[in-house]
Amino acid sequence: MVSALFAQVKKGEEIAVPYIAYPIKMGKGFNAVQANCLTCHSFGYIINQGPQSKDFWAGKVVKMVVHFKAPIDKKDTQTIIDYLFKHYGNGKLK
Ligand code: HEC
Repeated sequence: MVSALFAQVKKGEEIAVPYIAYPIKMGKGFNAVQANCLTCHSFGYIINQGPQSKDFWAGKVVKMVVHFKAPIDKKDTQTIIDYLFKHYGNGKLK
């Protein structure tokens, strides 16, 4: 879907970026977050936590699955953790 949209934008043409309340960082993994994490709460709710360690994010993903029965695709788990840590991490593993 996204690629089809982008394909329609001609080279050199300016793209108007819609205002969003939270700075969503696009990039590898965002699709996985969108598919797995935004069914129950918003993106802002997730990144409201501020910069956190990799363990913190991994723990949250596990918590979502264990406590809230989030139907998170196993193959996406690591992608999501990496994405959150890369963009919303504090640089610390633990
Ligand atoms: C099945 C529904 C559901 C899905 C899917 C889900 N969450 Fe949550 N999430 C919740 C609920 C419920 C809360 C807690 C609300 C509360 O405690 O008031 C929550 C809270 C959070 C919090 C706030 C901190 C905390 O510990 O409560 C974070 C961060 C979070 N989710 C991240 C994620 C991430 C990342 C994903 C995707 C991997 C995800 N969630 C997918 C239901 C879900």
